[in-house]
Amino acid sequence: MPIALKNETGTNDYYGALKSRVAQIETRYRSLTPRSQALFERAGHVFPGGFTRDAILRAPYAPFVMKAQGTTMTDADGRRITDMWFNATSLPLGHAHPKVVAAALGQVPLGTAYFAPTEHELALGELIVQRVPCAERIRFANSGSEAVMMALRFARAHRERSLIVKFEGSYHGSYDDVSWSVSPTLGRGGPELAPVPAADTAGLAGTDGRVAILPYNNPDVLREYVTRNHDAIATLLVEPMANRMGLILPDLAFVQEARELCDRYGIVLIFDEVIAFRVGYHGAQGELGVNPDLVTLGKIIGGGFPVGAVAGKAAILDASNPDRPGRVAHAGTFNGNPMVGVAGLATMVELTPEVFAQINGLGEHTRQKLQTICKGLPLQVTGAGSLFKITATGRTIRNYRDAAQADKKWEQLASLALLNEGFMLTPTLAGCISAVTTRAEVDSFLAAFGSVAKI
Ligand SMILES: Cc1ncc(COP(=O)(O)O)c(C=O)c1O
Repeated sequence: MPIALKNETGTNDYYGALKSRVAQIETRYRSLTPRSQALFERAGHVFPGGFTRDAILRAPYAPFVMKAQGTTMTDADGRRITDMWFNATSLPLGHAHPKVVAAALGQVPLGTAYFAPTEHELALGELIVQRVPCAERIRFANSGSEAVMMALRFARAHRERSLIVKFEGSYHGSYDDVSWSVSPTLGRGGPELAPVPAADTAGLAGTDGRVAILPYNNPDVLREYVTRNHDAIATLLVEPMANRMGLILPDLAFVQEARELCDRYGIVLIFDEVIAFRVGYHGAQGELGVNPDLVTLGKIIGGGFPVGAVAGKAAILDASNPDRPGRVAHAGTFNGNPMVGVAGLATMVELTPEVFAQINGLGEHTRQKLQTICKGLPLQVTGAGSLFKITATGRTIRNYRDAAQADKKWEQLASLALLNEGFMLTPTLAGCISAVTTRAEVDSFLAAFGSVAKI
């Protein structure tokens, strides 16, 4: 099959070649996964749409996983799948790492949750405060979404203002105030340099006006907007690795501008590092050399258990001290439970600078080889650290509008074709490396992707 030349709009027939094989790819998937299909049909009777978590949705259905060890998941049909997304980047040591298993099994008979603090939670908190440049204090929550919700509450309380500035295409979890312009269709987003907030879900009635949306990676628009509106703004909420924009790190000029504006006007700068904390030993702020006032964390710090945290300046977080008048309330039945404490600590202790060098090195190898495969094709390879993403567009990606041009159908189908070959990435072809991923596994994946890309 001839390969069409790359063009600017990404609308040429290159994508059509794979898409014309949709029936063949889906038929093969169904033939490999009959038990997952049966479970999915059963799930449709209790879960709306057959699932309880939007991100794992894929057509025609996701494989049900029975167990996992290292890089290998075994699905309900007994197929072995090489994991290249590790529960949305949250397992940097892979599945069921022996030290994490030992820590968790050691704790279970001692009790999994108490109405009292524990030393485990304290040790994990101390480790994070030591590693994260902006962190003087930390509070735990149960998910990244909750961490973002709490960070916004702290920022609004500190600044005594309500407006959140968020960037188009950034995902910050499921809290209402950040569910705006996450992935608007291009017709709904307004002008590129003056985006309008577009609700990302139904059910936000009455919450509009609390969020302003700006283009990512554009320091000029940011400066102009903040200079005019600073008196209303509580916080700039920045994702220092743009997940839905190809897992790219932001331009330094953009985050430096954000820092300077926040310093000038007393606005609270939040970095959402729920994913980005994985890019280096000191997180994204360490890589960028720019510190926020608050940082939200999740995923890797829980060692595979549900977790979130907000960390940052004492001057802001000490507002939850009980003796503060008008204190910031922060509760949660499972906050900092001992399971998260022991498993998170076991994981974070293993994540030494050497391990970061290893996974980031393999990440770089993966991106370089993917770039070679994609040369001359309307496919972009982006990412940083241990993360990578293939986007079906001919455009270089610097912001949401670039990424939104992608041919999502092609990405979904390529992802399904890879699943047929035994590799799991997201349906949008995002992937990551963990400490147990081998170069041989990466090279097998690259060979499989090469075949899909050259169809
Ligand atoms: C940047 C960012 N913030 C927040 C969240 C929400 O985290 P959780 O899914 O743990 O609620 C995510 C999840 O992927 C994320 O990527």
